[in-house]
Amino acid sequence: MQASPHGKSITVHAPGTVANLVCGFDVLGMCLNEPHDIMHVTLLDERKVVIESLDGYPLPSDPQQNTAGAPLIEMLHELDRQIGFHVQIKKQIKPGSGIGSSAASAAGAVVAANHLLNNVFTNTEMVRFAMAGEKVASGVKHADNVAPCIYGGITLIRSIFPLDIIAIPAPDLYVTVVHPQIEVRTADARQILRKEVLLKDAIKQWGNIAGLVAGFMKGDLELIGRSLEDVIIEPVRSILIPGFNDVKTRCRQAGALGGGISGSGPSIFMLSRDKQTADNVEGVMQEIYTAIGIDFHTYVTTINKQGVTVALKELNPIHGEEQQITG
Ligand code: HSE
Repeated sequence: MQASPHGKSITVHAPGTVANLVCGFDVLGMCLNEPHDIMHVTLLDERKVVIESLDGYPLPSDPQQNTAGAPLIEMLHELDRQIGFHVQIKKQIKPGSGIGSSAASAAGAVVAANHLLNNVFTNTEMVRFAMAGEKVASGVKHADNVAPCIYGGITLIRSIFPLDIIAIPAPDLYVTVVHPQIEVRTADARQILRKEVLLKDAIKQWGNIAGLVAGFMKGDLELIGRSLEDVIIEPVRSILIPGFNDVKTRCRQAGALGGGISGSGPSIFMLSRDKQTADNVEGVMQEIYTAIGIDFHTYVTTINKQGVTVALKELNPIHGEEQQITG
């Protein structure tokens, strides 16, 4: 492989995201500080995209089929230049977790590439490219993971065609996430949804979406808690997640404001007003999945207001470890 004359490269952290935020299917999303993927992107002077997994994840090496590769191919279509990208990925967000693994690859790749091109593309254009990665992953272009991953914080996707993304002020809340180690493919979790909704359910749902957005904007935690209710998607999808109802009930009893399925699952997230409550909520989640006998990972984290960021450490492409940038 031939690097560009300048050998320009960059390492970025591409964070996990919680899509839907319970009531806002396909329109609301939130960026997390943990977990995050690490990606190293190098500019090439050949018109091609090369994908390399540094930690043995069986990522599709055909860039058209890869969630990081497809967005870069779209980006190259809009550039009249003899360049390409070599992407090395150290995945820390497990595919099929519901924490925006495919979005992190897509958003990380486009933000890193855009940096290497001196930021010629806007955030909205980057979201448009990154949605090509979601199409590869789930068969559908949705932006509720890639938008918060690129913008940071909480985003509302008012429209996809044309893209209209609104950044919503994010209060300083704690987020507890449990990832039961079962895989739910987004494509499957979309397939099982009913195609029609009852008007009475739609009325409840849009009341909750408006309430949630108003709650975030006013910093009204009680309103946020009341609005974290989903009468359309959750009743169908929660069947795929053992322990879901127990987690929801007992985490609220432990003081969480509320929460639900993260994206298309199987992860479940809960929002809390302080770290102590978020830790207690984690304890409840751990107890439940230990009792059920399903392996799990938990995270206690906060809302990431930056989105994809340039790392202070370079990714060592040989060992897949980070090392301090010097000089
Ligand atoms: N809005 C998408 C879904 C997010 O729920 O299918 C997938 O992460």
